[in-house]
Amino acid sequence: MQEKLKQIKKSFGEEIENVKDRKSLENLETKYLGRKGELTQVLKGVKDLAEDQKKEVGSLANKIKEELSSQVEDLKKSLGGEGEKGFVDVTLPGKQVERGHLNPLTIVQNELEDLFVSMGFMILDGPELESDYYCFEALNIPRYHPARDMQDTFYIDKKNESGEYDLVMRPHTSPVQVRGMQKYGAPFRGVVPGRVFRNEEIDACHEHTFDQMEGLMVDKDISVSNLISVLKELLNNIFGKEMETRVRPGYFPFTEPSIELDIRCTICGGKGCPSCKNSGWLELIPGGMVHPRVLEYGGVDPKEYSGFAFGLGLTRLVMMRYGINDIRLINSGDLRFLRQF
Ligand code: DAH
Repeated sequence: MQEKLKQIKKSFGEEIENVKDRKSLENLETKYLGRKGELTQVLKGVKDLAEDQKKEVGSLANKIKEELSSQVEDLKKSLGGEGEKGFVDVTLPGKQVERGHLNPLTIVQNELEDLFVSMGFMILDGPELESDYYCFEALNIPRYHPARDMQDTFYIDKKNESGEYDLVMRPHTSPVQVRGMQKYGAPFRGVVPGRVFRNEEIDACHEHTFDQMEGLMVDKDISVSNLISVLKELLNNIFGKEMETRVRPGYFPFTEPSIELDIRCTICGGKGCPSCKNSGWLELIPGGMVHPRVLEYGGVDPKEYSGFAFGLGLTRLVMMRYGINDIRLINSGDLRFLRQF
């Protein structure tokens, strides 16, 4: 019996050397000191021993039990864990918490939304899967009108009762002009940031999915000068300085007259470079005075009200502000790109 006890003490001593965590310490404790543990079994057997052995073996077994228990307790303390204050090495380097990053597009969109809200505009949303009616018809672009070729539209492969394709992935945010007027009437001020889709050959400058921000203001006595001053405010705000601009005549079926607002090339400062095709100017925001027919589609009386509209290329503006030279980066989800913002 005494031999057995010495054996237990020895093997416990060897095993506890290898204990590195709380779990294996608990297993060791159960193995020797648990209800069915090796030492416990010996202690239970003491009562069956001969009278003269009982005392000697009993006290040795109890002594070993105390020794083992206190070794277990000591190790528990140094391992730390539940209910105990573990050892903390304050010199270890901290764990860096990863911060999320906003897409540059979201950053610019948020800034523009704040700016337009401060000028009394509301922020509107519209469906990305849109009807032919709102995308074209109500914007004064009838079916078979040549201006439909201006947009390489994705049509949905589903015909209506009259046998015509009438659902598209919206190629611009302009349909929300009419939806906005129909819903809120005049006077009206709103901007519509959102995704648009075009059947484009993809390269560094073209994507099938990109973002625009439509603007619409309808009130009494609105003129082109209101449009130009709002657009200048927008540009100065986004670029953080007074931007040199020029206005050229343009053509869109839903505005009359139509304009194109250009800015001095942000890459070469106007000297001429490949980005501005050596003209020194970058075409940035198209717009104009809302066509009376479009006002009518919106349920607004063109004799009483006039309005301006613009269709900002949000993605393009973001690329110019940050000097991003490949449009594909914006929706790539590449963290090496996103971490820079
Ligand atoms: N919807 C046009 C496009 O995507 C851009 C545009 C031009 C919007 C003139 C307007 C506007 O509101 O007045 O090409």
